[in-house]
Amino acid sequence: MKTAWGMTPDGKTVELYTLKNSKGAEARIMNYGGVLVSLKVPDRTGAFGDVVAGLDSFQDYLKPPPYFGAIIGRYGNRIGKARFTLNGVEYKLAKNDGENSLHGGVRGFDKRLWQANALSPESLELKYRSADGEEGYPGNLDVTVKYTLTDANELRIGYSATTDKETVVNLTNHSYFNLAGEGDILGHEVTINADRFTPVDKGLIPTGELKDVTGTPFDFRTATAIGKRIEQKDQQLIFAGGYDHNWVLNRKGDGLEAVAKVTDPKSGRVMEVLTTQPGLQFYTGNFLDGTLKGKGRTYTRRSAFCMETQHFPDSPNKPGFPSTVLKPGSTYQNTTVYRFSTL
Ligand code: GLA
Repeated sequence: MKTAWGMTPDGKTVELYTLKNSKGAEARIMNYGGVLVSLKVPDRTGAFGDVVAGLDSFQDYLKPPPYFGAIIGRYGNRIGKARFTLNGVEYKLAKNDGENSLHGGVRGFDKRLWQANALSPESLELKYRSADGEEGYPGNLDVTVKYTLTDANELRIGYSATTDKETVVNLTNHSYFNLAGEGDILGHEVTINADRFTPVDKGLIPTGELKDVTGTPFDFRTATAIGKRIEQKDQQLIFAGGYDHNWVLNRKGDGLEAVAKVTDPKSGRVMEVLTTQPGLQFYTGNFLDGTLKGKGRTYTRRSAFCMETQHFPDSPNKPGFPSTVLKPGSTYQNTTVYRFSTL
């Protein structure tokens, strides 16, 4: 089902698509930015509630919000000094985060109108062609993102892309979750299956080190409340104002594997994250400051968290990190699943 939801500044209609599964769960996605606007799943009493941050009108998304629910590309997270070299050629990107490039640049995939195709009541396909040179990246990149709301109360996001020139690609979704709907997320308990994370400098660019989480506030190998260690005088937490780091996921192979789990003792909601990706950016909404409002909620600091499955930040400048290079003739492919259940 789709409804007209607004008009872009250049006069194109923005549509809001509703996906439903047979269990009563519902996801709303707009073709602008591929934004997941709302996601309703049951709590332990069976009551449906919206677990993602979102705004009330399309106009509100133009302000711009901090990537609420959006598809991020061409490169999710930061590229240091907004530049990288590929085959001896230096590519300069837009600086939109100090001297760095964040989430695809000034006008990333989150600010583009995607071509939408409703495949079934529970599935939506979005396509976007990112032109050669857009935001400084080489190659025409054809991207397809497929959202599916399964009867197991899973939101599956499948990403694929091809290019006609060697380039770098790192796609993710930037949904902000709050399993209770509102309030802070400090009582949510998080498990991340990762022995290491990538420490950052004060501009949040990885130093290149893969650091053991043992004995640090970054050890989420057993379920720990987000708020338990977030205020510790740890240099990494201080740099980011909380958690805003990439974890190096423990993986068995390159298939879809369960990598993280979040439980909210209050609502009883549980979210598991499964992915084919090597990294997970766990961000605790440290930059939210209460100026954004939507759904009757005020988005205050740490009132939502993100689990952005991805390749590591700044990979194009870090030869030791898994490669984000995509060559003509190859297909970029990744899948992430957010699976909801209750305690
Ligand atoms: C990502 C980044 C954060 C921040 C948010 C958007 O999670 O890692 O530093 O930029 O996006 O505000």
